[in-house]
Amino acid sequence: MSTDLKVIILAAGQGTRMKSKVPKVLHKVLDKTMADCVIDSCLEAGADDICVVVGHQSMMVRKMIGDRVKYAFQKEQLGTGHAVMQAGDFIGDEGDVLILCGDTPLITSETIKEIRDFHIKNKNSATGVSFIAEDPVGYGRIIRDENGAFVKIVEQKDASPDELSVSEVNSGVYIFKADSLRKALEGLKNNNASGEYYLTDTLEAIMAAGGKTEVMKASDPNEFLGVNSKLDLCAATRILMKRINERHMLEGVTIINPENTYIGQDVVIEADTIILPGTSLKGRTRIGTDCIIGPNTEIISSEIKDGVTVRMSVLDNAYVDNFTTVGPFAYLRPGANIGEHVRIGDFVEIKNSNIDDGSKVSHLTYVGDSDVGKQVNFGCGTVTANYDGVSKYRTTIKDNAFIGCNTNLIAPVTVGEYAVTAAGSTINKDVPDHALSIARKRQVNIDEWARKK
Ligand code: UD1
Ligand code: CA
Repeated sequence: MSTDLKVIILAAGQGTRMKSKVPKVLHKVLDKTMADCVIDSCLEAGADDICVVVGHQSMMVRKMIGDRVKYAFQKEQLGTGHAVMQAGDFIGDEGDVLILCGDTPLITSETIKEIRDFHIKNKNSATGVSFIAEDPVGYGRIIRDENGAFVKIVEQKDASPDELSVSEVNSGVYIFKADSLRKALEGLKNNNASGEYYLTDTLEAIMAAGGKTEVMKASDPNEFLGVNSKLDLCAATRILMKRINERHMLEGVTIINPENTYIGQDVVIEADTIILPGTSLKGRTRIGTDCIIGPNTEIISSEIKDGVTVRMSVLDNAYVDNFTTVGPFAYLRPGANIGEHVRIGDFVEIKNSNIDDGSKVSHLTYVGDSDVGKQVNFGCGTVTANYDGVSKYRTTIKDNAFIGCNTNLIAPVTVGEYAVTAAGSTINKDVPDHALSIARKRQVNIDEWARKK
């Protein structure tokens, strides 16, 4: 895509109908905010000069979106046309400007390219995009003459009964020649039912000034679903889920129940992996081949290699190497770096720790800030005491060590190779290689004590 395409994304509105303290464009469809969905599709299409118009709770919106875009500020939300006016300096006088709404999260990069090609091929001054809506209520209606040529867009509130019966609606996506748009914005009025400056009126104005204006009918209405309420948000989520899950299935991933499997847009899964019901895969998660994931598992931005099983567990920014099993009911927190053929069992939490190949942490154990070697066995109920209330310290456990049940390891501390800690020990001094460490009181048996009692 040529570089003289600028993008403006409208995101200043509050979204009153969302009934939320969170600004509309920050609501998420699956794991991504609506604003980021739109921005990512533009970037994927090669349109990377983006200006987002913010207004309502602008600091929060800017913080969430970050510095990969430019911003314009709309102090008062006086309409979509007024919003674009605030980006006047960004528009400039040359090239084309693509305008999208921040509340239309399902648009794809392919469609953005298609619209751009249509606009260029037809040498338009303005190109709108429409679709046929099953339920057109709330959308602007596309009014055409008897030959099918575009005449104008009429908003719901301003439409006559005849106009309301039109099912071809405005998607809210447009491409303008920069100079045509600037001129049209200068003449924009707000004499309509809402008292707002409608961006939609610029199409009519550009045509009146002699600019070629067309409205392209898009084939997939699902891409233009505008989210105005939580009901719409749910509808958008269902559409996106279907789109993503079908893509993975066609690429060889088995999804047992796509209706309750939530896979984010940026997740990568290799063929022959099975995703069981109730699973959420989020962020930059990557999963290899021959894995079994789920049921009821949440994985956030983690990397999982091949042949791994994860059952009923939560993984957050973790790494799990080949043929390891996790769960049921394990919690791998950020910095959990798990080797090959490891077993992480039930009620085990691992944070900021390396667990090397072949080690077993089977049950009821907390491992934090630790470096664990190969073939280490943890007995049930081991705790690394890594925090003294002020600072955190590391625990080192070398290859082939055997940690007895209910051991406390008070960091900083090292357990040597092949060393053994006796069950119930509290270890606060290093244990040499091959040693047995018993750190508990000796058992005392008092004969006949119970009988006397
Ligand atoms: C708009 C269109 C309508 C179209 C529909 C598609 C206009 C006048 N109407 O209606 O024809 O069918 O989108 O979804 O353009 N915004 C601002 N500043 C404002 C007002 C809005 O930034 O002053 C932003 C909103 O944050 C939102 C977008 O523009 O992201 C669209 O605004 P919204 O109020 O949702 O417009 P619709 O009524 O849906
Ligand atoms: Ca809308």
